[in-house]
Amino acid sequence: MRIIMLGDVVGRGGTGFVCRRLRSLRQLYAPDLIVANGENASEGNGILPTEAQALFDAGVDILTLGNHGLRRREIYPMLEDREDIIRPANLHPEAPGRGWTVFDKPGLPRVAVVNLLGSVFMDWHQSPFDAMDALLPRIDAPVILVDFHAEATSEKVALGFYLDGRVSAVAGTHTHIQTADERILPGGTAYITDLGMCGPFQSVLGVKPELAIRRLRTGLPTRFENDPGGCRLSGALLDIDPATGRAAGIQRINLE
Ligand SMILES: [Fe+2]
Ligand SMILES: [Fe+2]
Repeated sequence: MRIIMLGDVVGRGGTGFVCRRLRSLRQLYAPDLIVANGENASEGNGILPTEAQALFDAGVDILTLGNHGLRRREIYPMLEDREDIIRPANLHPEAPGRGWTVFDKPGLPRVAVVNLLGSVFMDWHQSPFDAMDALLPRIDAPVILVDFHAEATSEKVALGFYLDGRVSAVAGTHTHIQTADERILPGGTAYITDLGMCGPFQSVLGVKPELAIRRLRTGLPTRFENDPGGCRLSGALLDIDPATGRAAGIQRINLE
């Protein structure tokens, strides 16, 4: 089974770029399922129903979120009503929506997708490690994917090893910088610390460089704006054996 996981889609530019390139991505890699992180799909963080719907219409099957996912209240009804958009599972139980879902399409094995938030520099409620221990016995699917939205590389790779052999893939998001450490862990779990970003590449994580520089140089409040420049789409292609749930391959994807 071939699965594409895409890193954080950033701003109107990133959303438009993903929508335009998804068809060629499908032709190139023939994925059975496309998962994308949409937490920054709206201008200035968060996601609105418009961007979520545009990504679904273009062919994204499942949207995951992160620390910015609940910023725009307009998305809450969609989180409650739909099963193909999920927010981190280790938020407080009062958070709207769900933290995991099952992609169930006729002719394909069931694929569970879990979204988790890291504990470093994040407003988490439950440890992502403990949250997965509690969640895994409840999941009935041969293939399990985890989008681990976290800051610290150490925490990400540690969770990868913690879940090795218990899930099919652990893919990191949030840093907007793709890492070159993709691998199959000893127990058969595909792993990458960060999928990267789908957004304006000549920018500071999607933000206009001059604005990011001003805030970092002076420490003064500076309103961030997304860079309008050319985009890059980043993610990974996973090859999973549904009979065992083990990964056979992981390959980084980058499209200019
Ligand atoms: Fe992000
Ligand atoms: Fe984030």
